[in-house]
Amino acid sequence: MRGNLKNRKTNNNPIGIFDSGFGGLTVMSEINKILPLESLIYFGDTAHIPYGTKSKGAVIKFSKEIASFLVKNRVKLIVIACNTASAFALSILKKTFDVPIIGVIESGAEASVLASKSKNIGVIGTEGTVNSNSYINEINKISKSNVYQQACPLFVPLVEEGWISGKIADAVVKKYMAPLLKKHIDTLVLGCTHYPLLKGILRKNVDKKIVFIDSAKTVAREVVKVLRQKSLLANKNGNKFLKFYVSDNPEKFQKIGNNFFWRKINNVRKVDMEQR
Ligand code: DGL
Repeated sequence: MRGNLKNRKTNNNPIGIFDSGFGGLTVMSEINKILPLESLIYFGDTAHIPYGTKSKGAVIKFSKEIASFLVKNRVKLIVIACNTASAFALSILKKTFDVPIIGVIESGAEASVLASKSKNIGVIGTEGTVNSNSYINEINKISKSNVYQQACPLFVPLVEEGWISGKIADAVVKKYMAPLLKKHIDTLVLGCTHYPLLKGILRKNVDKKIVFIDSAKTVAREVVKVLRQKSLLANKNGNKFLKFYVSDNPEKFQKIGNNFFWRKINNVRKVDMEQR
């Protein structure tokens, strides 16, 4: 997917954002907030969710297919709005495609180091992200810290079902948080883009002083930085649009999206895997 870069290096071309499901919408929403002129194309790989329990090879394959779809749609930058795909596929996608590509892990790691005074940092994520040790590596590149990880495989299905509060969510949060809280962490990285939707219930269950690092916010700031550096920020002459694509079940995506996001999500289009 090299070549034709000039066609995509237009300020008013869209930014492509992808995740396995709804989670990346937390990132899209932050980007939309701080960059209101940018057109955004979102891809939720709902046919393959969850990524967090899949093999590295599978996540790389899905990520490559989605990135080619986005590049065909003339995006000027791609945001991997998924920690699992960032952990497994960022370096490969960067080698394969000639648009700038941003993952969520580096900026989250940086923000956690800045926030932590005790250097006891907790990271919650999918099994894939935790087993990749990407946060431990990125955090320790910046500053030697004690990083305590906890995989939370039930969080993504809770969010995808819209169960972000109530007794069941509460019990699951308590169970996953208990080992981390024993480590006296002062900072907690929400290392999965689905988790900002559980912020309310997480906050209820952990010490108020623990700082939450929301990868959605940190990556949105990184997008601004990269677009500015490359002189690719959109201008007022563009015809701003937001588009949503999924690989399965657009109706469910629309329904849940409408409950949780900052705008009505409509016109969700299904993309056939074979035709991507
Ligand atoms: N939202 C994703 C992440 O940040 C993936 C969730 C999943 O598909 O397991 O890791």
